[in-house]
Amino acid sequence: MVTISLPGMPADFFEPISDHKTPPTYLYFDGTSWKPGESGKTVPVASPIDGSVVGNLPVVTPKEIDAVMAAATSSQPAWEATPLYKRVSVMHLAADWIRQFEEYLTNVMIREIGKSAGEAKSEIVRTADLIDYFADEAEALRGETIDSDNFPGYEKGKIAIVERVAHGVVLAIAPFNYPVNLSASKIAPALLMGNSVVVKPPTMGGISGLHLVRIFEKAGVPKGVITAVTGTGDVIGDYVVRHDAVSMVAFTGSSDTGLAIAGKAPMKPLLFECGGNNPVVVMPDADMGVTAHEIIKGGFAYSGQRCTGIKYVLTTKAIREQLVEMMLKLMPEMVKAGDPRSPDTKLVGPVISESAARHIEEVIEASVKNGATIVMGGKRTGAMIEPTILTGVLPTMPVIAKETFGPVVSFVDVNSFDEAVTIINNSSYGLQASVFTKDEGTGIVFAGKLHVGTVQINGSPQRGPDHFPFLGVKHSGTGVQGVRYSLEAMSRIRPIVLNKPQ
Ligand code: G3P
Repeated sequence: MVTISLPGMPADFFEPISDHKTPPTYLYFDGTSWKPGESGKTVPVASPIDGSVVGNLPVVTPKEIDAVMAAATSSQPAWEATPLYKRVSVMHLAADWIRQFEEYLTNVMIREIGKSAGEAKSEIVRTADLIDYFADEAEALRGETIDSDNFPGYEKGKIAIVERVAHGVVLAIAPFNYPVNLSASKIAPALLMGNSVVVKPPTMGGISGLHLVRIFEKAGVPKGVITAVTGTGDVIGDYVVRHDAVSMVAFTGSSDTGLAIAGKAPMKPLLFECGGNNPVVVMPDADMGVTAHEIIKGGFAYSGQRCTGIKYVLTTKAIREQLVEMMLKLMPEMVKAGDPRSPDTKLVGPVISESAARHIEEVIEASVKNGATIVMGGKRTGAMIEPTILTGVLPTMPVIAKETFGPVVSFVDVNSFDEAVTIINNSSYGLQASVFTKDEGTGIVFAGKLHVGTVQINGSPQRGPDHFPFLGVKHSGTGVQGVRYSLEAMSRIRPIVLNKPQ
């Protein structure tokens, strides 16, 4: 990792990105200047903590989107022609400035999305490290040459020069739950591979996303090469995704939205991370203490609002009874629902909005009506959902038939582990799955039966470490993230074949 002495941080670093009224109305970035939306329409970012307006985001118009796309298109060739070592140095400076603003960015994120201080700070630190890692890895990612005569029937005389080149304009759509990290995980590889990037931050988390774009701008990304357009997906999403200037779409969000976008960006490379609805399988020989700890951590971190969150546990009735008993003992020390600003709060704060909380409440109630049992939790107060454990859940019940993006872990009793395989493989989701067993060989064989992206053995699902491959199958995504994988996804190869007369 290259360490750079930080140049003097301009005092007005974030000044231009908002009107600085109370609450501020933020500006979109057309690649040269920060501007209020011409329509005057804005969307409020209401804190899930107390409903207070953290700020307002402009809803850009098609005309403003066209101008942004034109800037992204015209600026991209010169950026791709910029020597890689210069692109790399811009990334390292951005990473160092993110570290410089760790506390500031952490506080913005806590208020915007109700993430706990610990989790928000961890996201900021992780993002700086990720950008540095991308920059180091990009320097090693080169093309190749291939000779003709190692294919039957061919003589020497043809050499393929295989370059790795940019797609052009990458559209980066980030989710509310990681507004900084899952923006940077798209922006950094896209820029390093010579693309220009149009960033569509989430509405909730959009303020954090705009701060990140400002950091890239000030770190030296040239005019037009990075831009940011804001507005709710239902208003500007179609126009942005369908835009002819967009060469590639990188998206993290719900499976429903991912499916909708995929249908609107035909013949374009896609890098999607969608809903996970992740299962856990607990074998009879599993270490129940480790398993209970991992299920709690994986099920309740950031109030269950992670694509890799644990959503249901498949095991026999006897093991479930042991496990639930163990979890109930551990919950008081591992989980304390409350205000994410409080140091006493552990893992569970408010979910992203009261309407999201009402939806979670509804699916819990519907599942209980169908026969599920609430072992703990289940109640809603405003945007707060109590940490909830359900038993007697069936795969068809609403709480797990579709991903419930909240602090809810369901137990599904099975009579065999083949039945568990069938349930997992019949699901439309396939991000990750976890298997708990002391016999790692059994775990590896079992993992081979599961139609999911990644199988964790004796650990809860997670995306990190961020250089590991990370992918979803079925409705959980398309393409592979992870440092080298993302760099490859954000580029394409361009073969040039030299035909040399013999
Ligand atoms: O929900 C986003 C997904 O990427 C989760 O990441 O690091 O919490 O497993 P992580």
